[in-house]
Amino acid sequence: MSVREETINEIKNRIDIVEVIGDFVSMKKVGSNYRALSPFTNEKTPSFYVSPSKEIYKCFSSGKGGDAISFVMEVEGINYIEALKYLAAKYGIEIEEEEQTDEQIQAQNERDSLFIVLNFASEYFSKLLWENEEGRSIGLSYFKERGYLESTIKQFDLGYSIEAWDGLMNAAKEKGFTEDILEKAGLILKSENKVYDRFRGRVMFPIHNVAGKVIAFGARTLRSDKKQPKYINSPETDVYHKSNILYGMHQARQAVRNEDMCYLVEGYTDVISLHQSGVTNVVSSSGTSLTKEQIQLISRYTKNITVLYDGDSAGIKASFRGIDLILEHDLNVRAVVFPDGEDPDSYSRKLGSEAFEKYLKEKAQDFITFKTNVLTDGGKQNDPVQRVEVIRDIVESISLIPDGIKRSVYIRSCSDQLKIEEQVLISELNKILIANQRKDRQKVQQEQVVEQDIQEAVATPEQQVVEHTTFYVERECLRMLINYGAEPYEENLSIGEFIMQETADISFEHPEIANVYQTAIKRLSNGQSVEPDNFISPEDPQTSQLVIGLLDMKYFVSEGWYERHRIHTSHESEDLPKATFKIVLRLKRKKLEALIAENDADLKLAEDAGNIIELENLLKMRMQLKSLYDQVTSQLGIVVSK
Ligand code: GTP
Ligand code: MN
Repeated sequence: MSVREETINEIKNRIDIVEVIGDFVSMKKVGSNYRALSPFTNEKTPSFYVSPSKEIYKCFSSGKGGDAISFVMEVEGINYIEALKYLAAKYGIEIEEEEQTDEQIQAQNERDSLFIVLNFASEYFSKLLWENEEGRSIGLSYFKERGYLESTIKQFDLGYSIEAWDGLMNAAKEKGFTEDILEKAGLILKSENKVYDRFRGRVMFPIHNVAGKVIAFGARTLRSDKKQPKYINSPETDVYHKSNILYGMHQARQAVRNEDMCYLVEGYTDVISLHQSGVTNVVSSSGTSLTKEQIQLISRYTKNITVLYDGDSAGIKASFRGIDLILEHDLNVRAVVFPDGEDPDSYSRKLGSEAFEKYLKEKAQDFITFKTNVLTDGGKQNDPVQRVEVIRDIVESISLIPDGIKRSVYIRSCSDQLKIEEQVLISELNKILIANQRKDRQKVQQEQVVEQDIQEAVATPEQQVVEHTTFYVERECLRMLINYGAEPYEENLSIGEFIMQETADISFEHPEIANVYQTAIKRLSNGQSVEPDNFISPEDPQTSQLVIGLLDMKYFVSEGWYERHRIHTSHESEDLPKATFKIVLRLKRKKLEALIAENDADLKLAEDAGNIIELENLLKMRMQLKSLYDQVTSQLGIVVSK
């Protein structure tokens, strides 16, 4: 499938990068830019920047960067066309999709076909709910009995599957969909020689991805016979990975961001009832225990989760793992427990909007109170042995919080609530932390390797001198040129001019780098300045991508912030001439290495051919190269260790 050039341009013109990224990340304005915690890593200090004027984003912790389209691709894990469609839908721009013929459907890439057939099925089920006699009398009347308003039913695209073995299958085949694609979408089942609809005689809950596409279904039977499971769900497919999905996220995300909090409930009916009660920042992990992917999904919008629990406490203990997982991801978690026999769905209907919202606000407990209450049965049990267990359990949870300051706040609160000396808790906490230290240390070491790659902060001079790829040194050289070209190298010589001088007879191996480099050099020799903006434009996404990847943080933060937070910016900015000199030396050294290797090969050829004159010339050249190489290496060693 392709999107017309004019449509692409229309989408690009309408895009507001802050708005697009704002749907996924909560950002703070700093100066003329926006700053946020990276949606791609688990960072604690925000290093994700959006520049509205340049229409780009850059994430300093993952190195990712680009325009709004590439952001959507990255964050949703979708391709270019899918990202365009997402943006078109967001801005109400029509993308014409031609009526599908058999061949076209076959030729589609599979993901696209799955989305199309799932969307078809969803429309089919909702048509049955509203227009079919069985659908209306059984499905629609069930929803109405549950108290769902028509507007709610429509908002969640609810539907009905009739009591037949081939209802959907026939309708889909008529439209040209194959059995193969229906099966891959999880809509039909095959056994021996029989093929039949998976969902029959059930009310249908379509499950959407964040972008609002139908990717799966949950289906509830309306029969009371116990042989049938109450709910059945789509299987895992190429577009539906249960552990990555939260039911209701598409409808909730705006509210989650606005309220800066996300309610987590058990299932479809809880989500829908809460919506109808005016609580719209709610999602559900539908039937499975919470996963790390789901927490990461929530953390794109907010760092605050409130888990809502049914009255029966049997399931609550089992859910402690979910609380710990949330803490581990450095999110804040609270819990609300409903009275015996009530779940969020039933209780919201019982209380009505206002009283229900009040209940949520008043009954939300932090995880310490919550755990204490659950483990001591609301304080009823109080034997000393059990008390020790409770304390240990809670301190274990606290130990999972990555942020040390937060940990000590919770230790204090735990000390207050459980009436235990803070020191006792701290020493308990330290024991756990030390026990985990080995694991932590390994992790830190891994992080340092990455860090080194960028900063080269720790290694010995020898280590630093070796092991860089040609791509790395070429890119580094370009990075200095683009970020600092205009800064002084020495009196009457800019960094740009210095690099130009020193690399005049060096050719860059990598074409995409060479291209930008040539353009930059041309500008410099015409007396023009070199700025990242010269290379960032929607017309040339590839070059833009490369250059955004090279941008320094100074393009995103105000002068003052930059000064105050030096620690987060690169060390090199403290001595730009030295950093530049070092990088130029590295580039030269790499190029000399390549020349020496070439010379080696030539020597072998000359030797084999017995060509004495050639051999002599090559050996002379070899000595020169070697001496240059040693010179550069020793200079580099001096610069690096200084
Ligand atoms: P009644 O209360 O008996 O009317 O049924 P219900 O449809 O409200 O479901 P129930 O109260 O048993 O379940 C509570 C929540 O969990 C509901 O939101 C259901 O959507 C959800 N749920 C229950 N069982 C399953 C299941 O097997 N799979 C999934 N995905 N969700 C389920
Ligand atoms: Mn229920």
